[in-house]
Amino acid sequence: MSLLTHHFFVCVNDRPAGHPKGSCVEKGAAAIVDAMRRKVEEKNLWGKVQVTGTGCLGPCQAGPVVVVYPEGIWYRVPTPADVDEIFEQHVGQGKPVERLQFDPERM
Ligand code: FES
Repeated sequence: MSLLTHHFFVCVNDRPAGHPKGSCVEKGAAAIVDAMRRKVEEKNLWGKVQVTGTGCLGPCQAGPVVVVYPEGIWYRVPTPADVDEIFEQHVGQGKPVERLQFDPERM
């Protein structure tokens, strides 16, 4: 039985420079996944919150892109400071951060 409360999937896809779609790595995704993993460690959330780096999730133009389950909420996370807000508000209080959310079907 899983005791996870949240599972974050962070796109860490990279593409060659100049590719028309760009990539989440080009937009700073490595710093985002690092910041999320640091938060899990700092807040002692091992076994409760999982952070997984993934390949392309689809809505590349929104990058860096994160989707979190079980809610299936999509976030555009431009800076590590935004990770702080997600962990304080979404993980800590159960209130998704509206200003960072987007709908991948409208991209
Ligand atoms: S490269 Fe990140 S969603 Fe496509």
